[in-house]
Amino acid sequence: MKIFITGIAGFLGSHLAKRLQNLGHEIFGNDNLILGELENLPKNIKFYKTDCCDYNQMVKNLEGIDIVYHCAATAHEGLSVFSPNFITKNIYQASTSVITASIVNKVKKFIFCSSMARYGNQQTPFKESMPAKPEDPYGIAKVASEDTLKLLSEVHGMNFNIAVPHNIVGPNQKYDDPFRNVMSIFINRNLQGEPSIIYGDGMQQRCFSYIDDVIFCLEKLALDKNINKEIVNIGPDEETTTVLELSKLVANETGYNGHPIFVKDRPKEVKFASCSSDKARKLLGYETKTSLKDSIKFTTEFIKKRGIKKFNYNLPIEIDNHLTPETWKLKKI
Ligand SMILES: NC(=O)c1ccc[n+]([C@@H]2O[C@H](COP(=O)([O-])OP(=O)(O)OC[C@H]3O[C@@H](n4cnc5c(N)ncnc54)[C@H](O)[C@@H]3O)[C@@H](O)[C@H]2O)c1
Repeated sequence: MKIFITGIAGFLGSHLAKRLQNLGHEIFGNDNLILGELENLPKNIKFYKTDCCDYNQMVKNLEGIDIVYHCAATAHEGLSVFSPNFITKNIYQASTSVITASIVNKVKKFIFCSSMARYGNQQTPFKESMPAKPEDPYGIAKVASEDTLKLLSEVHGMNFNIAVPHNIVGPNQKYDDPFRNVMSIFINRNLQGEPSIIYGDGMQQRCFSYIDDVIFCLEKLALDKNINKEIVNIGPDEETTTVLELSKLVANETGYNGHPIFVKDRPKEVKFASCSSDKARKLLGYETKTSLKDSIKFTTEFIKKRGIKKFNYNLPIEIDNHLTPETWKLKKI
């Protein structure tokens, strides 16, 4: 089948491309490279350096395509409170453009990558049956994109599924982005002899999943003809950890001897965030195979191999006031 992956030079997109190519599918994809890296791309795919918001170009890119995975996004929940215009453009406008271009091209199935930001501050573990209650512009834009996908698919007859990945880690994840990917940031800093920087008291609870454990679920959402119009959390519900504990595990793996630094908490950061995997287990055969310790080990090995990097502040900060984290304003990360 001809499969198109938006955001293909990013973390999830590049792994999906490799996996689906190995299964014998023809892979196409685009990325505006604002965050993605060309070295993530597998060989022998058709790559377009296109922005998803460029609707006319996306209509051309998607000619003859059977399945679309929409992975492209600026998945920056914390930053979205300070750069709402930039972040939501790359979520809602980009999604609407790709959804419309898919319908125009009679794409058979559309897989949308949402986020657990859709659940906001509700009781954990988040279940798919809960109403969406996003707490920040990133989550709001994801939910608006989901609703638009549901509505347009219903009217125009396109099959779709919504994946809700959460805190996936592993090779190809961007580790020089100061705004996102806490584990990779800690590893990149510790490997440079710098302490982890923790917002608030570090008691935020999270659950991390290793890429190899979840890619199969994303594959099934597209390729299993019997799975349609579903929303499924993709990731583990075992081994919940705190950000503070994570920093200790990373220090242990990287051989960093110092202590983390604590800074002011960030507005709207959800304290407890973990998803139930029950539906993924039943519907997609999800199983956690990689422990948190091994996830840290494999991600550290990747960062060492690709090489530590200075943090890249290439994203705009639109609202610069007393609430804007100093770590970003003063480029402390
Ligand atoms: N990785 C996770 O833990 C996680 C968690 C929840 C949700 N998600 C969702 O999964 C998807 C993939 O996430 P990821 O971790 O691979 O992110 P990523 O940043 O590694 O990849 C996203 C890619 O999209 C590209 N991009 C951004 N805006 C674009 C635009 N307007 N046009 C074209 N390309 C654009 C970026 O350059 C990047 O390569 C996102 O939709 C994200 O919201 C990921």
